[in-house]
Amino acid sequence: MLHASLTVDPAFRVADVSPRTFGSFVEHMGRCVYTGIYEPGHSSADEDGLRRDVLDLVRELGVTAVRYPGGNFVSGFRWEDSVGPVADRPTRLDLAWHSTETNAFGLHEFQRWAEKAGVESMMAVNLGTRGVAEALDLLEYCNHPGGTAWSDQRIKNGAQDPFGIRMWCLGNEMDGPWQTGHKTAQEYGRIAAETARAMRMVDPKLELVACGSSSSSMPTFGSWEATVLEEAYDQVDYISCHAYYEELDGDLGSFLASGVDMDHFVESVVATADHIRAKLGRKKRINLSFDEWNVWYNTRFEAQDKPTDWAVAPRVIEDEYNVADAVVVGGLLISLLRNSDRVTAACLAQLVNVIAPIRSEAGGPSWRQTTFHPFAQAARHARGTVLRVEPVAPTYETNRFGEVSVVDAVATHDGDELTVFAINRHQGDNVELALDLRAFPGYVPVEHTVLSDPDIRATNTQDDPDRIRPYAADTGAVTDGRLTVSLPPVSWNVVRLRRAG
Ligand code: AHR
Repeated sequence: MLHASLTVDPAFRVADVSPRTFGSFVEHMGRCVYTGIYEPGHSSADEDGLRRDVLDLVRELGVTAVRYPGGNFVSGFRWEDSVGPVADRPTRLDLAWHSTETNAFGLHEFQRWAEKAGVESMMAVNLGTRGVAEALDLLEYCNHPGGTAWSDQRIKNGAQDPFGIRMWCLGNEMDGPWQTGHKTAQEYGRIAAETARAMRMVDPKLELVACGSSSSSMPTFGSWEATVLEEAYDQVDYISCHAYYEELDGDLGSFLASGVDMDHFVESVVATADHIRAKLGRKKRINLSFDEWNVWYNTRFEAQDKPTDWAVAPRVIEDEYNVADAVVVGGLLISLLRNSDRVTAACLAQLVNVIAPIRSEAGGPSWRQTTFHPFAQAARHARGTVLRVEPVAPTYETNRFGEVSVVDAVATHDGDELTVFAINRHQGDNVELALDLRAFPGYVPVEHTVLSDPDIRATNTQDDPDRIRPYAADTGAVTDGRLTVSLPPVSWNVVRLRRAG
């Protein structure tokens, strides 16, 4: 057994929890939309063809904002194809995923889904094959009350009220050579700045996200952000970050430490954005929209033969997540919360079927993957203020990130509620974690839930959908301002306390 400790103190405030930290992502990719959130004819489908069973799980997941419609898909998307009578909508090739897009589900269907799910829409515009004019048309269609060509078209198509979309992504992963309409940093920075400038002429209150690097391993990482922000600093509010993690070559120790990499990623982008701020002599700070993050077994995907048949909604990257993956997702959530002073929006990519916390089968059931649980618990309990904690814990050596703490944790405090989120990365030993709570007199433990299993490769499947879920552990009692909880090997833990009386 190992021992660790940490101190929870209201003085160690990071920032308020941003509700957008718990965003997700719906892309027209694979079966995220078709047979994911939308399946007319399914026994649970509502009058709009939206799957009620999936909607229930989305609400339970606690998702707050959803980025749409891509991803790589957006860089070839003509939004006009996706509105108006369904029978008149054109079927198109989707170059990003080598699929056929029927456009049966489009802008209005997404808005209706978002309303029913109770989430904010985060819209992406196509800056790959399109530009300023089409972004302006889309903005006018979505947000202008009426009396213009595009806004009247929206009304004619059934939406009297404007959609009121506030947050807009200016393209997607434009640094990636795989992107349709890929650009250099200079080219992208210019079009992002001009698109943003024009969109702000329509509505100065929009929140605009410039594309950062599509991963920190891109050869242009750092210089891309610097060049883009030199061009677009005054016009945008956010720079995006994307990161996917996987266990490479059986190196579980490094994989479990993925949060270390995310911290480093955030630190590097913040440093770059602040460097440009200093260089330009600006007061405004650029925040980070970590609008794609997750575990993704991308190496497996890259090794596969790519489909050549232009199928409609084929199965693409339907990764099945295990206990270790859920602990990594928990670690990434801890990193996002810890960086809440600068990461004020984030999207778990994606929401259903495609590298997703929710799985569904056509004509069949839907279920929660292992990774559903840490996200849902953090979305439910991370409230109020984020408090930084510094675990004093044993360390272990990793191939990719050097020496790493066995325990990672963060806390949130909201009035009478105090919650500690913690992971144990050790593969064999329990950690007895002593929480120093002397700065929170009168708080008593109400719950300690754990996600772990002797088989860290165990998954949830259609036949055994609840094989892995959080279970209640012993809460213990606070003695002399200290509470000791036991963290099993490779585990995600939520310790909740409440002010007594
Ligand atoms: O989420 C899957 C894909 O990953 C997205 O389309 C793209 O933006 C990223 O490379």
